[in-house]
Amino acid sequence: MIARREVLALALACAALPSRAQQADPLAERFGGPFTLAAHDGRRVSDTDFRGQFMLVYFGYTRCPDVCPDDLLTLGAALKKLGKDADKIQPLFITVDPERDTAKLLGDYVESFHPRLLGLTGSEAEIATAVRAYKVHRVKYTPANDPKSYGVDHSSLTYLMGPDGKFRTLIPHGTSAERMADLLRGYVGRN
Ligand code: NI
Repeated sequence: MIARREVLALALACAALPSRAQQADPLAERFGGPFTLAAHDGRRVSDTDFRGQFMLVYFGYTRCPDVCPDDLLTLGAALKKLGKDADKIQPLFITVDPERDTAKLLGDYVESFHPRLLGLTGSEAEIATAVRAYKVHRVKYTPANDPKSYGVDHSSLTYLMGPDGKFRTLIPHGTSAERMADLLRGYVGRN
């Protein structure tokens, strides 16, 4: 399920290493934007609620067979490695499958990866807004072995957004927890 754009993302991530992040970054306006969604704990939350903190944003869905659990395990492990610096980061899991991912399902799912991971769902229109803002690839498909069901092919990138709400970097699928922790420390440790 690794889309071609993952290769592009890898190139983008390399272009946005911390050493260059303090310069005017042409990518800074490309990813991210306003959203208002339903958190798994019942709150309505907007991107602006997290100003002053970093947001670590991942898009996926609870029925994802392999990619999401891998990436969320890495995210959880990286945050643990960060120690106290992790307190400056709010991890968010935004569903690409709002039709099936209820707040209850999301809550049960996210808690197995990190205690502060917040699951977000919403109406199709609300999710579509967030998906567009983050340039997420999202396509429904019919599994060959279960034609009455559907899956959602989606890009598997983790976005780091700064305390100002602006894009900092992308972390591609396949990044180790150690590498991810190092990368995050490069941004978060300075704040
Ligand atoms: Ni997935």
